[in-house]
Amino acid sequence: RTVAILKELEGTCGTPIGKLKQIADAMTVEMYAGLASEGGSKLKMIISFVDNLPTGDEKGLFYALDLGGTNFRVLRVLLGGKEGRVVKQESKEVSIPHDLMIGTSQELFDFIATELAEFVATEGEGLHVSSGKQRELGFTFSFPVKQTSITSGNLIKWTKGFSIEDAVEKDVVGELTKAMERMGLDMRVSALVNDTIGTLAGGRYHNQDVIAAVILGTGTNAAYVERANAIPKWQGLLPKSGEMVINMEWGNFRSSHLPLTEYDQALDVESKNPGEQIFEKVISGMYLGEIVRRVLYRMAEEAAFFGDTVPPKLNIPYILRTPDMSAMHHDTSSDLKVVGNKLKDILEITNTSLKMRKVIVEVCDIVATRGARLSAAGIVGILKKLGRDTVRDGETQKSVIALDGGLYEHYKKFSGCMESTLKELLGEDVAENIIVEHSNDGSGIGASLLAASHSQYLEV
Ligand code: BG6
Ligand code: GLC
Repeated sequence: RTVAILKELEGTCGTPIGKLKQIADAMTVEMYAGLASEGGSKLKMIISFVDNLPTGDEKGLFYALDLGGTNFRVLRVLLGGKEGRVVKQESKEVSIPHDLMIGTSQELFDFIATELAEFVATEGEGLHVSSGKQRELGFTFSFPVKQTSITSGNLIKWTKGFSIEDAVEKDVVGELTKAMERMGLDMRVSALVNDTIGTLAGGRYHNQDVIAAVILGTGTNAAYVERANAIPKWQGLLPKSGEMVINMEWGNFRSSHLPLTEYDQALDVESKNPGEQIFEKVISGMYLGEIVRRVLYRMAEEAAFFGDTVPPKLNIPYILRTPDMSAMHHDTSSDLKVVGNKLKDILEITNTSLKMRKVIVEVCDIVATRGARLSAAGIVGILKKLGRDTVRDGETQKSVIALDGGLYEHYKKFSGCMESTLKELLGEDVAENIIVEHSNDGSGIGASLLAASHSQYLEV
């Protein structure tokens, strides 16, 4: 029975190359649709109002506030222009208490503003804003926001387990500014960006060939540089650069070609955002461990995999986190000791045989491989949209994709599989010119760079 469940999982999670190509094509099609009109696609293709990426000339002291999924960070960055680059940076990371993720807007923003105020208070002798100048902040807010300018935008919906009803449709900069005022903090948000946009900007600062950024973390998403005249829904003037950065919000992508299982369906129905973020729910770090838990639960229930009774802990949603899944998946000991320990520590399951542990590693492998291969297909979708997926006139342009997020950084089998699938999909000749680059901490630096290039003190 266990073998049957495993085989069935393997079958439904299958991502043969033909299917991945269909998914990449579907991604490209949805990109066009989302650019054509508001609401034209599941892909929001949000206009970021970033039409100039960092050049290296940015100068001055700027702050960044990075609100992602699990943590938020505050940064102070001294930019030194062409010669100096990033002269100095200081930062502080705080994990977001779970009750704040499902409380009220004021509670969340007051918490952030308090931490920010404490950090600003540590501004030292060497690293301080010139007197008489207001401090400026790049705000990375990693949720879908309908931008109305580079400094404003309304929250469309929450993702990644956040659910704060009274913040939906509000201007997140307005909410943060009010909280900063309540804390007596005189600061101005000069750029509001998604983490993908921050990562793209940070990536471009270091490498001018960066054309897209992908986050594989608690959630997943991508941003890329589009030609402004290829965005029919853009009503504004054409920017001088002729370019516009687009936040795809690809986590909400879905397609009939996606290999979905009964576990995914149940996870979705029981989630805080049923019917939404389907691509994200099969790829990202928030969900992979939970999918594995659901498979193990079914094995326990239907095949008495862990003995006559279902281990009670196995019934607790999200108890098995993706970092634990990753640790089990990477276990190289001959008796799979790590797997045994994780089962004991997290699920209170003891006395597992080597055979059982092998099955569990197999489940991790199937679930991670599907996610990694699907994310590669997503990237190929972007390259296709940009015409960078084939050899033209005997040449391909060099394209660098900046990657960030805990899943990419720490789950090596996942990132390895994503990168090899990319090669498999593109073919050797093209793949040679497509470079995936880890852009650690790029999004905070990127936000401060964009704050600098949109500073109120810039001379024009
Ligand atoms: C960080 C970026 O490195 O990665 C954040 O600075 C981003 O902006 C985050 O949101 C995503 O990864 P994770 O794993 O924290 O969701
Ligand atoms: C979720 C958010 C998106 C963010 C991504 C990665 O998909 O909706 O805005 O970029 O997670 O953090």
